[in-house]
Amino acid sequence: MPEDPIIELFEVTKVYPLPAGDVIALDRVSMAIGDGEFVAIMGPSGSGKSTLLNQLGCLDRPTSGNLLIGGRNTREMNDRELTSLRLNTIGYIFQRFNLISLLSAYENVEFPYLMKHRRPDGSGRVATLLSQVGIDSAMAKHKPPELSGGQQQRVAIARALVNDPQILLCDEPTGNLDSVTGQQIMEMLTGLNRKGRTIVVVTHDPGVARYARRIITVRDGRVA
Ligand SMILES: Nc1ncnc2c1ncn2[C@@H]1O[C@H](COP(=O)(O)OP(=O)(O)OP(=O)(O)O)[C@@H](O)[C@H]1O
Ligand SMILES: [Mg+2]
Repeated sequence: MPEDPIIELFEVTKVYPLPAGDVIALDRVSMAIGDGEFVAIMGPSGSGKSTLLNQLGCLDRPTSGNLLIGGRNTREMNDRELTSLRLNTIGYIFQRFNLISLLSAYENVEFPYLMKHRRPDGSGRVATLLSQVGIDSAMAKHKPPELSGGQQQRVAIARALVNDPQILLCDEPTGNLDSVTGQQIMEMLTGLNRKGRTIVVVTHDPGVARYARRIITVRDGRVA
């Protein structure tokens, strides 16, 4: 167990009730992630990796068990506190991007910034992040449906970084990228980790997992 945990799970179970019967996506998972760690989560398709990442990101409450962020039990937080945690402390790159189709790429990245600061970005941060992930100013005017999967992924990465989160959770962040761009993104994540950010990456790709200092394996909803 890490010495200085930022996320702790105690016997976390997540059940999806379905008409055909309950799916136990996570089964009594106990683990911790240290402040400033770089962790990869691996495991077969359907094993519960995205479900686990959703729990780490407080996107969903556990069916049973406890989740602590920075030592605070999320069960004791109200919706407003959880929203603030997601906006200020956690950056999330979704497996299916979850960009807003009606907004341009630029506006998608600016959106969490506006929610946090209540004013437009005057520092050029949005444009800088977009350029760092390889989206130029012309492309930034396009809406997600007009972009390729890889371009949408880069926009999603810039959006996750815009509020400079302490914890960055990435679900297959390089899944739609060519290997060169994928490496650039991983170098970017490594740089953020060196600056003290906690990085958790779900991946099928051993080349991506190599960047992490610890690998957590999920099988049938259980962490080994
Ligand atoms: N919203 C949901 N409703 C019902 N069942 C779900 C839901 N999300 C996931 N599941 C089920 O929970 C299990 C774990 O799914 P999860 O998406 O966490 O897997 P994964 O490891 O991320 O897979 P992949 O590598 O394909 O992304 C699967 O059996 C899946 O069908
Ligand atoms: Mg998944």
